[in-house]
Amino acid sequence: MSTKPDQNGLKAAAAKAAVAYVPDNAIIGVGTGSTVNFFIDELIKIRDRVKAAVSSSDASTARLKAGGIDVMALNDAGPIAVYVDGADEVTKHLAMIKGGGAALTREKVVAAASDKFVCVADQSKLVDILGKFPLPVEVIPMARSYVARELVKLGGHPEWRMREVDGQMRAVVTDNGNWILDVHGFSIVNPPLLETEINQIPGVVTNGIFARRCADVLLLATTDGVEKRTR
Ligand code: A5P
Repeated sequence: MSTKPDQNGLKAAAAKAAVAYVPDNAIIGVGTGSTVNFFIDELIKIRDRVKAAVSSSDASTARLKAGGIDVMALNDAGPIAVYVDGADEVTKHLAMIKGGGAALTREKVVAAASDKFVCVADQSKLVDILGKFPLPVEVIPMARSYVARELVKLGGHPEWRMREVDGQMRAVVTDNGNWILDVHGFSIVNPPLLETEINQIPGVVTNGIFARRCADVLLLATTDGVEKRTR
């Protein structure tokens, strides 16, 4: 009888392995999501040698501060030594889909401002071709319908991200005050090209393909241990 892998255990293992990439007394870029939450827990254990963090979401900021880690604005931080974040899908070339937690824009900015991007993920995230996970696209609210029509022209099936609040369906609002379209049906054979094409649609803030600035290191937790992959 086969047993299901303990996904939280795998996420925690990847997060623990990322501590090796944290330099002493440096500013660390911190992503968002359940895998990163395990990384924040590790950072809290070594907070005496963490100068500060730059965070990619209000949720991560709250968790870092609760654990006694200073959070700086990116504008005050200068270049960041290392950025640690999860992924919804990742290829062996270290291109990713991100944004399942709606934090894609700040994640992309902090990743771009960082010298090294370490992706932490469990084995379920590794794919040959990106796109089975619906691609998040952050849009300014007045452009939602127009951007959705343009995404259909590119072959996608956009869905406006909603969640239930007090029994009513409400638009998910990002930390930047925008909305999310989740685009189904893409088979992303050329990630940098589609990343650029979508970002050129007026009204798009950014999309969840991380290919132009992909990860430098992938720490992939498997049932046989944490595999390290680099570009
Ligand atoms: C947040 O917007 C995302 O980019 C997350 O990094 C991604 O969804 C991975 O999250 P989990 O670690 O929770 O799977």
